Amino acid sequence: MESGLDYHSARALLEWQIELGATDAIGDAPVDRYALPDTTPKAKKPAAVQAAPEKPQKVDPVQVAKAAAQGAASLDQLRAAMDAFELCELKRGARQLVFADGTQGARVMIVGEAPGREEDREGKPFVGRAGQLLDRMLAAIDLDRTKNVYITNVLPWRPPQNRDPKPEEIGMMKPFLERHVALAKPEVLVIMGNVSCQAVLGKRGITRLRGKWEQALDLPVIPMFHPAYLLRQPQMKRQAWADLLELNARLEGK
Ligand code: URA
Repeated sequence: MESGLDYHSARALLEWQIELGATDAIGDAPVDRYALPDTTPKAKKPAAVQAAPEKPQKVDPVQVAKAAAQGAASLDQLRAAMDAFELCELKRGARQLVFADGTQGARVMIVGEAPGREEDREGKPFVGRAGQLLDRMLAAIDLDRTKNVYITNVLPWRPPQNRDPKPEEIGMMKPFLERHVALAKPEVLVIMGNVSCQAVLGKRGITRLRGKWEQALDLPVIPMFHPAYLLRQPQMKRQAWADLLELNARLEGK
């Protein structure tokens, strides 16, 4: 082929290619391999050998909670089991677990609803305004969380914006509450507000239920107005006072 190069230029080019490692002439015209279509054979998927896709296992949070709660042999172990429970969405939005406060082994156990902002911050139930009212109510019948009352909530994590707990959240955490009561072994249970009534008695209607003894979790249980409700409706304190006297009469064996 006529290249238009003189002998010396053609020879210099050839020597340069040999220096680069070219050993054979395979064509007269240069080939831009980057511009060619990709003809690399694709690896074939072996049809028969493919594993059947695994079905995602459905986890029942209530069953997981039951197993975790039953495995706890002490209040400390229960706290750890609740802290390790990852299936309740509320945990993601809360600062920390709010487990309990007060005196272990007390005759009276109080069950509130869920932590609010202050409780979420301090890690203890009933430390905000409602908690201060609760302390004053208890003091009226010689009860004191540092001496003779044990306090917890249905839910150990603060719901976002203090929204009402959802029924599925109450149901999911109920095995932990049941175990909590069994391990704390109180003589009587005081359940404050509708969420506690739902969790312990399986029904709502605090205005109708308050002040009347029921039997649940193998214990006498008395529903009362929630102190946060009494802060909004102070005229209801009269009924709350009557319920406290009822509780006191029971404790004094009258
Ligand atoms: N309300 C509750 O029910 N529990 C708390 O701990 C605080 C406020």
